[in-house]
Amino acid sequence: MRTSHFFNKFLPWTIFYILPVAMFLLYFYHLTLSASPKTEFSHSKPKNFISYSSLSADTVKRKAYENQCDYFKGEWIKDSAGPLYNDTTCGMIKEGRNCIKHGRPDTDYLYWRWKPNQCNLPRFDPNTFLKLIKNKHIAFVGDSLARNQLESLLCMLSTSSIPNLVYQNGKDNEFSKWYFSSHNASVSLYWSPFLVQGIEKSSTRPNNELYLDHVDEKWAKDINQMDMIVLSIGHWFLLPAIYHEGGSILGCHYCQGFNYTEIGFYGVLGKAVRTSLNSIIDMRGNNNNVKGKNGIDVIVTTFAPHHFEGDWDKAGACPKTEPYKNGEKEVDGMSSDMRKVEIEEVESAKVKGIIRLEALDVTKLAFLRPDGHPGPYMNYFPFAKGVGKFVQNDCVHWCLPGPIDTWNEIFLEIMKKWEGQNKS
Ligand SMILES: *[C@@H]1O[C@H](CO)[C@@H](O)[C@H](O)[C@H]1NC(C)=O
Ligand SMILES: *[C@@H]1O[C@H](CO)[C@@H](O)[C@H](O)[C@H]1NC(C)=O
Ligand SMILES: *[C@@H]1O[C@H](CO)[C@@H](O)[C@H](O)[C@H]1NC(C)=O
Repeated sequence: MRTSHFFNKFLPWTIFYILPVAMFLLYFYHLTLSASPKTEFSHSKPKNFISYSSLSADTVKRKAYENQCDYFKGEWIKDSAGPLYNDTTCGMIKEGRNCIKHGRPDTDYLYWRWKPNQCNLPRFDPNTFLKLIKNKHIAFVGDSLARNQLESLLCMLSTSSIPNLVYQNGKDNEFSKWYFSSHNASVSLYWSPFLVQGIEKSSTRPNNELYLDHVDEKWAKDINQMDMIVLSIGHWFLLPAIYHEGGSILGCHYCQGFNYTEIGFYGVLGKAVRTSLNSIIDMRGNNNNVKGKNGIDVIVTTFAPHHFEGDWDKAGACPKTEPYKNGEKEVDGMSSDMRKVEIEEVESAKVKGIIRLEALDVTKLAFLRPDGHPGPYMNYFPFAKGVGKFVQNDCVHWCLPGPIDTWNEIFLEIMKKWEGQNKS
């Protein structure tokens, strides 16, 4: 009974996901850097804090932070300003996300900005971001969406200062590092789609294999050299998998041919995030007494939904060319549950008060942007020879430039808030 309940709940998603996700995650191309012209940006105005004249200065400060804008509730509104960068100014865009270069004909999707209900989200200011990461190392750890967000950030920062690629390793450069000599700052990428130790599904291996109580050393070995970590995982958890914990098999997800208990993927995702946050706390928690001075800051980017509407290999798999209006459609149950698990882990780690961390809760704003994916333009001019019977689509990752740039705008606001707390 229990098993069949799980299957009813998970099977539809599983079947939906296996092909596209497995396909897309295999598409990796080399990154190249090119020179880009410098652009001047004005500094964004500091946030106005609400003042409470009847309260003490200390309380006022605290209240001001508590009352800061909720950046995750809002709507997409038209904006003629357009992106900070393009393929000409940024040489770091992975081929599969380079929609304009690949012939995507519509451009409306570039002219929207996120408007939180309570405030305005300032346009990304690369100089402010670079100042905040001076002498620091930020690591993006996770799956291909972590890389998607990292490339967006590098492209936006490059409009102010060009980084040097100082390290590259792994198949498709899954491990890379860039150095901004202007600010002695590093930004790096660590491929780790589960965050915990695991073996990835492949053509010879029908399922992922995860070791939920062991953090993935491929990134964790460098925790001591990191000042900020952005964790971003999710889609790989939907694939068939066998889960290990405490030296034995805990269960599995969609593991046909094995006699293990189906346990789904939500609880498992929670365990993987918990193991990771605990490892960071264990290794870097002790010296965090001085308000983040020697400590480490952590951002967890929440699950970003895909927008496949039809077959992943047919034209029009994600055909929308504008955002959903608020209320037009609800975040689907799976995405909302993935997000919930991640938020819960962040909240319970936060309560410990040992490291500074925040959820970058993009699920809703990502969900509202069905128009932001490469679709068939993951490939170069996919219809050059006419519309074929089959065409590969990517409705998971995001065009660059595109809506994912907004993730980093909010990321910057979180960093500014932290900086304000340091000073108070
Ligand atoms: C890319 O951006 C640069 C600088 O803003 C601009 O001069 C150029 O026309 C843009 N290229 C395209 C193809 O939009
Ligand atoms: C550059 O940054 C590193 C940390 O990323 C720090 O150890 C080093 O002291 C910095 N160098 C200078 C000259 O500030
Ligand atoms: C599967 O496991 C259950 C309980 O561990 C056992 O009773 C059953 O015989 C196993 N079935 C097969 C086909 O191995």
